[in-house]
Amino acid sequence: MLLVKPVKKVFAKIFPTVIPDLKDRMADIPIRHFNFNFKSEEIDVKFFMQKEWATAYFAALSIFLTYGEELVIETARHHRDQIKDPVLKQRLTSLIGQEAIHSKVHDEFNDALIPRNMPVRLYRFLAEQVFNYGLLKFPQPLKLSMMAGIEHFTAVFAEYAMNNEEIFTNSLDDKQRGLWMWHMLEESEHKDIAYDTYQVLSANYPLRVAGFFIALIVLGVGVGAGALFLPFLRHPLNTVSPSFWKEAKGSWDLLFGLKNGVFGSSLGHIFDYLRLDFHPNDHDTTTLLEHYKKELLDPETGTLTPFFVKEFTPPIRLS
Ligand SMILES: [Fe+2]
Ligand SMILES: [Fe+2]
Repeated sequence: MLLVKPVKKVFAKIFPTVIPDLKDRMADIPIRHFNFNFKSEEIDVKFFMQKEWATAYFAALSIFLTYGEELVIETARHHRDQIKDPVLKQRLTSLIGQEAIHSKVHDEFNDALIPRNMPVRLYRFLAEQVFNYGLLKFPQPLKLSMMAGIEHFTAVFAEYAMNNEEIFTNSLDDKQRGLWMWHMLEESEHKDIAYDTYQVLSANYPLRVAGFFIALIVLGVGVGAGALFLPFLRHPLNTVSPSFWKEAKGSWDLLFGLKNGVFGSSLGHIFDYLRLDFHPNDHDTTTLLEHYKKELLDPETGTLTPFFVKEFTPPIRLS
């Protein structure tokens, strides 16, 4: 028993607990409601740089993300009661609210993909097996770590998207552009909440790494496989045309190219999460966020303004 204290001290040195100073990050995070009224026939199935396979990745992501968001919502709700800090508690409520609206609006988008021959029902069935019988049954501490891992990946994509707006501007599909840009703005806006909650309640480094790798497998392998097979399930005959394979190279570059690809160029950011003293705000996106809030949400000129319904900021409760 006498050895417990020194061992704890050494462990704390190897795996330092990064407890955030919440006073520095008290910006309110509103829960915004949008109505895009997606119409199947208006959806551009080559939205991302007019590349079918790259767009298939994001269609698969849109379907699987809703299940990841359910996991985030359920886990955040479960742990919110254990948080004493009223500011972090309020921010968790914002996270839950934002993710609930993301999930709802992506589901509306996914429904509109069905008449375009997208295998939405099949992918929903597969995601339900993985989440309902697997990931959602994991112990809460691991789910908390997975939540932080999932939020890290969405924050990486959000930063990439805000730095590479051109991936959204090669199409006339304003609604799909609005959906992704709004989602990415909010993923960046709330990127530290799951991590801060994890650090306050656990801060166990090996468990954090485990959650990271599970999120990596789900988002990389799971969504990747969904994207890989999507064009073959959608229109098998299209995939025998030379133009499909010619375009496939462009899709690969857009996703995995080391110079500018979504994931290829973000490898440093992705694996920075494994740093012992990592914090999401080490990757400062405040200037980008200010820029995009103005561009998207300005009441007069914002590109999202035609779809905006209302917003609500949860109050800070001191008791
Ligand atoms: Fe989300
Ligand atoms: Fe999120």
